[in-house]
Amino acid sequence: EKGTYPHFMLKEIDEQPFVMRNIINKYQNENGKLKLDDDIRKAMTDADRVYIVACGTSYHAGLVGKQLIENIAEIPVEVHIASEFVYNMPLLSKKPLFIFISQSGETADSRAVLVEIKKLGHKALTITNVPGSTLSREANYTLNLYAGPEIAVASTKAYTAQIAVLAILAVDSAHAKGIELDFNPMQELAIVANAMETLCNQKEQMENIAREYLAVSRNCFFIGRSADFYVCLEGALKLKEISYIQAEGFAGGELKHGTIALIEEGTPVIALATQEHVNLSIRGNVKEVAARGAYTCIISMDGMQDEEDRIVLPAVHEYLTPLVSVLPLQLISYYAALHRDCDVDKPRNLAKSVTVE
Ligand code: M6R
Repeated sequence: EKGTYPHFMLKEIDEQPFVMRNIINKYQNENGKLKLDDDIRKAMTDADRVYIVACGTSYHAGLVGKQLIENIAEIPVEVHIASEFVYNMPLLSKKPLFIFISQSGETADSRAVLVEIKKLGHKALTITNVPGSTLSREANYTLNLYAGPEIAVASTKAYTAQIAVLAILAVDSAHAKGIELDFNPMQELAIVANAMETLCNQKEQMENIAREYLAVSRNCFFIGRSADFYVCLEGALKLKEISYIQAEGFAGGELKHGTIALIEEGTPVIALATQEHVNLSIRGNVKEVAARGAYTCIISMDGMQDEEDRIVLPAVHEYLTPLVSVLPLQLISYYAALHRDCDVDKPRNLAKSVTVE
């Protein structure tokens, strides 16, 4: 039930701090140690390559997951869109492990891949919000998101839950491989939960930005580098899905290879600048688009901010920045849709779970 909320989407955005804390509780035992099945740990450490397969927002979480698993657990990862994978299967490694990421666990495109790889005798782990779902039943292993039912068509809390669970999985695999880490996922996720709470209390600011930048715009671009780029893809999907504004996420460095031609006087460009190692280059991109008339909005992180930034996110561990940078994008999309009188929870032409290929 929505309770006092006008829309499920807003309620689900607000639930994200609780979801983080729930995940911490579910994946930690009394001694503060990670609690994952031995079978899953073995499947991860046996694999010479992980293939993440998903659609839409879950695919975007997979892109972040690749960075986490490669950096933390040192296992190579490929991320694939399920509907493409099915007829364009890459050359597989000798010992692949498949990870299906699906909020609903019912997505037909992902299921079609699962059927194919099972025929080849490969193992699969499903990360889902619905434990008894088809993808969960048909895979060898399941990790639950514990995010509670997600009703709004636009996925919000499932995305952040997916990334949190992928971070825990990566750390668990690293421990099993004897890799020394100075990253405690539970401590860092607790910091994320507090940061999310702070952002959920800044709705007025997000609403103002939505009104100022998106009330009448035809289009909007999101730019970022490194992990920020992946979050830009998700921000753009959210905005197009519920507000029907043509939105695209671009890697900052790609602008000069074509995209910058789209910039006109007043084109809204939202830039994420939460990655220390590319902070200067993304700010350079912002200057380039601004010089061509773009109406820019920078979202940065505490410790990296500049006077001109519109939103400064509370600082979190560099591995986990997508968990907080996505939140303003979710809220901005929500308010943009609201201002444009769109049906926020049930956007046109879309279904919550896509059960046809
Ligand atoms: O249930 P799934 O995670 O498998 O769904 C995948 C996509 O259909 C889903 O994420 C979709 O892109 C959302 N509507 C995005 O908000």
